[in-house]
Amino acid sequence: MSTHDAERSAPIGVGRARQNAIYRPGALGVAPTVPTDALELERRARRAMSRRAWAYIAGGAGGGATMRANREAFDRWQVIPRMLHATTERDLSTRVLGTDLASPVLLAPVGAAGLVSDEADLQIARGAHASGVPYVFSCQGCSPMEETAQEMAGTPFWYQLYWSTDEQLVDSMIGRAEAAGAEALVVTLDTTMLGWRTQDLDLGSLPFARGQGIAQYTSDPRFMAMVRERVAAAARAGARGAEALGLDPRRPVDLVRAAKGGAGTVVSMSREHPGGLRANLRSAEPRAAVETFLDIYSNPGLSWEHIATLRERTSLPVVLKGVLHEDDARRALDSGVDAIVVSNHGGRQVDRSIGALDALVRIRAAIGPEPTVLMDSGVRSGADLFIALALGADACLLGRPHVYGLALDGAAGVSAVIDNVVAELDLTMGLVGTASIADITRELLIEG
Ligand code: GLV
Repeated sequence: MSTHDAERSAPIGVGRARQNAIYRPGALGVAPTVPTDALELERRARRAMSRRAWAYIAGGAGGGATMRANREAFDRWQVIPRMLHATTERDLSTRVLGTDLASPVLLAPVGAAGLVSDEADLQIARGAHASGVPYVFSCQGCSPMEETAQEMAGTPFWYQLYWSTDEQLVDSMIGRAEAAGAEALVVTLDTTMLGWRTQDLDLGSLPFARGQGIAQYTSDPRFMAMVRERVAAAARAGARGAEALGLDPRRPVDLVRAAKGGAGTVVSMSREHPGGLRANLRSAEPRAAVETFLDIYSNPGLSWEHIATLRERTSLPVVLKGVLHEDDARRALDSGVDAIVVSNHGGRQVDRSIGALDALVRIRAAIGPEPTVLMDSGVRSGADLFIALALGADACLLGRPHVYGLALDGAAGVSAVIDNVVAELDLTMGLVGTASIADITRELLIEG
């Protein structure tokens, strides 16, 4: 076969296929609904989202220094493309913890995505499935994991766990994740309390307090047993006053505002709660569910002793998410977990913390090439993925961008965001001269 024949028969690759899928309608005057540029994606999504949704999804801790550090860490690295390497075919596939990935990307768990769209988790699952990318279901999801699993239709998914103060609930959720078909359990370490989220705080907006993002709980038998016990106890104790709601009865103006806003909250709680809206509006359960959730989420006492119990509690691979220090990475791996995710929770927890990519470099240097390490926080594009892989990530989780795609075009928007990121990775690999994920190495980068 001549070089010419070989070129003709080589598949064009996902990057060029994606370009074609955009340029062809473009030639007829149809621009993509979901922008390919990460900043434009964010700008357009913001316009499509409510203030509360934007504050929760886009917001971070404090003044946002950690979110900036995440991006600056990427900006410090540059790729040095090689030439004349005749890389006509690329293989983006990889295998992480026994899960086959068509590309080194998974969707990160993002809580309360129902702020952005109805049936958010189901739509994200449909988008992930359409693009063949695994989804890490959020413990703060807006649909029960069993329903979201159905929408994955065979595409692998993992389950993220926030460790509750109720150990029976922890077991119940792990058991449900196993039964639903999750292929790994991802325990988030960094959110033993919510960080100081200034954008949410300034709107006085916590989605969970309106019943949004607690569907994994309200679909859980152990959780609902606690809720029913609470309703029964409240009935025994009699009605509760304004103080129980955190209001100062000496400030009538607050009470009037709360009466107005409170009606919306009651409707929201009742709509989110399982069962019909009408019945829920007459029931004490929706509010009791929110209060129970706020009591047991999450666990400030979480420690290595809890993690040590996991091997007994599940047969799934265990992933610890939120590792930033090399000593914690070593300890995690010594304690027998299967992988870690280097992450600062998208800058949502501790302001002025280390950029996640900077932490990845330090951790990889400390633990060597073997252990499975994923990363998230700041990944926005295929070029970012290339850098993270070159610096030692086995795969990355994509967080906010997929929710922006959801805001713009539902499941199709989620899929478009994934396809764009993967296309850019493929083109970067082809242009730089890397035919496989294993070929993406530190030697192809300079720091500067
Ligand atoms: C947790 O779900 C968060 O809000 O980051």
